[in-house]
Amino acid sequence: MSGDAGKRAAAEQAALLVEDGMRVGLGTGSTVDLLLPVLAARGLRDVRCVATSDATERQARELGLPVEPFDARDGLDLAVDGADEVAPDRWLIKGGGGAHTREKIVAAAAERFVVIVDESKLVDALTWAVPVELLPFGLPATLARLGDATVREGAPRSPDGGVIADVRASLADPAAVAARLAATPGVVDHGLFAPELVADVIVGRPG
Ligand code: A5P
Repeated sequence: MSGDAGKRAAAEQAALLVEDGMRVGLGTGSTVDLLLPVLAARGLRDVRCVATSDATERQARELGLPVEPFDARDGLDLAVDGADEVAPDRWLIKGGGGAHTREKIVAAAAERFVVIVDESKLVDALTWAVPVELLPFGLPATLARLGDATVREGAPRSPDGGVIADVRASLADPAAVAARLAATPGVVDHGLFAPELVADVIVGRPG
């Protein structure tokens, strides 16, 4: 079982974690796309959702899941999202869809952040270029400071107006890379998610 079947299996398990009365953060991507119908089919009457992208919000609403703006100080009970790579120590790379800034805000606000992936996302060590969201102001200067960084071709701006780019760096020490990116002026946020954020990783696999 891999690909969509693996993603679906992980999504189905995650949907079971949602209980009536919860406020739930919904991530972005093809795995979350599989979660939404399963969650809607559970027919819970009092679940309120916060979406990390317009695409997720649209799909959730179409399925009858109530989506509210993320404008309250209270946190979320649960957030569920996919990932592009998951290392054994639970460092993640996210942002393949350019939504990592909102995804990280939602993950950090959740009491429990659950990652849903198929086996293809499990890696021995992170290898991807790290997605970053950059302020348009001073973009060439920010890119130069980041080193080996390129604006992602064809990627739309984030819903908050940010430019999506990818930074190639050695990821032997993800914490050091995360700290460097976070300290670079013009970087809104990056797609490295620290293990402290991650409560559970659900891997869809045979059985
Ligand atoms: C969106 O920006 C990403 O962080 C996604 O969560 C990540 O790319 C996983 O996407 P898939 O579920 O489509 O693999």
